[in-house]
Amino acid sequence: MAIRPIVVHPNEILTTKCKEVVNFDDKLKALLDDMYDTMVASDGIGIAAPQVGEAIQVAIVDLGEGQEVIEMINPEIVEIGGSEIEIEGCLSFPDVYGEVERPFYVKVEAQDRDGALYELQAEDYEARAILHEIDHLHGVLFTSKVVRYVDLEEMERLAEEQEEETE
Ligand code: CO
Repeated sequence: MAIRPIVVHPNEILTTKCKEVVNFDDKLKALLDDMYDTMVASDGIGIAAPQVGEAIQVAIVDLGEGQEVIEMINPEIVEIGGSEIEIEGCLSFPDVYGEVERPFYVKVEAQDRDGALYELQAEDYEARAILHEIDHLHGVLFTSKVVRYVDLEEMERLAEEQEEETE
């Protein structure tokens, strides 16, 4: 396992439509493990293969909170519902934050690291993270969906307010 360098915008691979995975081999497993290490080391909650330089349909979401790590290979969105506007960031855009409207609910069909098909349902923040990562696999960046950018000063103020609320 290893931490890989994160591809930062602008870079052509970030806007490339990723290829479907056909070989569920050791190379894929090593990539998933590296992506996880890279995401954790960068304090991220999700990462997509193009962000470590591989234009293939592989993405990870892990909100922490003790849940299982979600590994999505060749994911397809099969259902969405509702909508919500929240602030997002991205490992490929250091210090860039903005409000993005996304569905509140999503149902996804994907394959796991062994190639087995599974279905996943998520809401709220988890759905947002999943949809953000699936966008990456289609070369779509969150900045193309931002309705309002939030500067660092406002981010800090919001973080402080949240801390006060939970105290
Ligand atoms: Co991202």
